[in-house]
Amino acid sequence: MRRSNLCFSVITFLFVVLISCQSENKNQLSGDPKFQQYYIQGEQLYVAHCSNCHQKNGKGLGLLYPPLDTSDYMQNNFEDVLCLIRHGKSGELMVNGKLYNQQMPGVTALTDLEIAQIATYIYNTWSHKKGMVEVKEATSILNQCKKQ
Ligand code: HEC
Repeated sequence: MRRSNLCFSVITFLFVVLISCQSENKNQLSGDPKFQQYYIQGEQLYVAHCSNCHQKNGKGLGLLYPPLDTSDYMQNNFEDVLCLIRHGKSGELMVNGKLYNQQMPGVTALTDLEIAQIATYIYNTWSHKKGMVEVKEATSILNQCKKQ
């Protein structure tokens, strides 16, 4: 009797864990319509403005274009990443232990909202799971970009 009670508790526990894992996943992918909208718009903007160089799969191209998938640079320099989307980047840059030194042109035509959408996409696809980047947050960072 006691043993079957214990068994029942264990099964209930596992069931609860399973259900909560599933609903967590759901939140990421389809739970929040605003997140989903940013992500989808961001993907289209990425394909239009970034994937020529960084590739659709985010793996970059040799030592010419650094990867965004699994990029430690992206993980450690969130604010700088928003700024370089608008203002570009040149000079030496280390990503996952590899040194890059090419020029990335900025895309000055992008609005704060579009940059927030691109950031939401690149920070939640491939191996990244940062969560949504709100336009308010993007604006306050973009207002403080150092002139390159
Ligand atoms: C013409 C090619 C080109 C395009 C288009 C381009 N980039 Fe880059 N990107 C580069 C290069 C080259 C570097 C490295 C710059 C350096 O060496 O200083 C870079 C660096 C980066 C980095 C930092 C390093 C890393 O891999 O984490 C990020 C993030 C990034 N780009 C994102 C983007 C996004 C988002 C877009 C689209 C809005 C974009 N890039 C468009 C060429 C490009």
